[in-house]
Amino acid sequence: MTKHSHTPSQSHEHDDAEHAAPGTAARMWDEKYSSRPKMWSGDPNPQLVAEVADLSPGEALDLGCGEGADAIWLAARGWAVTGLDVSAVALERAAAHARERGQDATIEWVQQDLATWVPDRLFDLVTAQFLHSTQMPWQQALQLAAAAVRTGGTLLIVGHHPDGLPPWGAHHTPEKFFTAEDLARELRIEEPLWRVEVLDSRQRGAIGPDGEAVSLTDAVLRATRLAAQ
Ligand SMILES: C[S@@+](CC[C@H](N)C(=O)[O-])C[C@H]1O[C@@H](n2cnc3c(N)ncnc32)[C@H](O)[C@@H]1O
Repeated sequence: MTKHSHTPSQSHEHDDAEHAAPGTAARMWDEKYSSRPKMWSGDPNPQLVAEVADLSPGEALDLGCGEGADAIWLAARGWAVTGLDVSAVALERAAAHARERGQDATIEWVQQDLATWVPDRLFDLVTAQFLHSTQMPWQQALQLAAAAVRTGGTLLIVGHHPDGLPPWGAHHTPEKFFTAEDLARELRIEEPLWRVEVLDSRQRGAIGPDGEAVSLTDAVLRATRLAAQ
């Protein structure tokens, strides 16, 4: 049984609505994080560990980094990391965790809303793990992830597969989620610009908010950028 950083440590996940008004995502996510001392398990996401362990370290961007477990794991493996999230509360926790683990020297925490953020540089690795922001369509949010990968770099997107959603989120309607095939099609992750390395649905065990064992399915896309856009 794997418990990972997308498993809520208490209570319910994403159980309130987001709205598209400016600043709403920051307010909503700050409130959500403030409602409990710890939202996620603190462990790196399993698909990140599986897909990145063999890559040579470089510059990484973690979009929607939350409390920072993935960014800290990457930094410990030699990556220079930018952790971006809309929630200042999450980022304060992430920075504190990084300091506690002695991994703060190579991580920059950036508070930005993807609704207005434009990547101003490129990265060797862009990872987006469960960046399910209902404030903007997933296609729009994750297009930014793809745009920030430099030639030769890696894009890794992991999300809840619509057929294996966590049972604890009332808002978890399948149309808000994607398969790896949906991702590749909508983001045009295809030759000649990309080589798809992994296109997968992976079932895994996790621990739910009340300590119950649940089975989830992750959609996993990993691709290498072959040429600039
Ligand atoms: C479900 S959590 C996942 C956190 C982390 N990647 C993990 O796997 O533990 C989604 C994260 O995306 C962030 N987020 C949601 N909408 C965002 C937006 N519009 N801009 C930037 N970050 C956003 C949230 O603050 C939250 O930390």
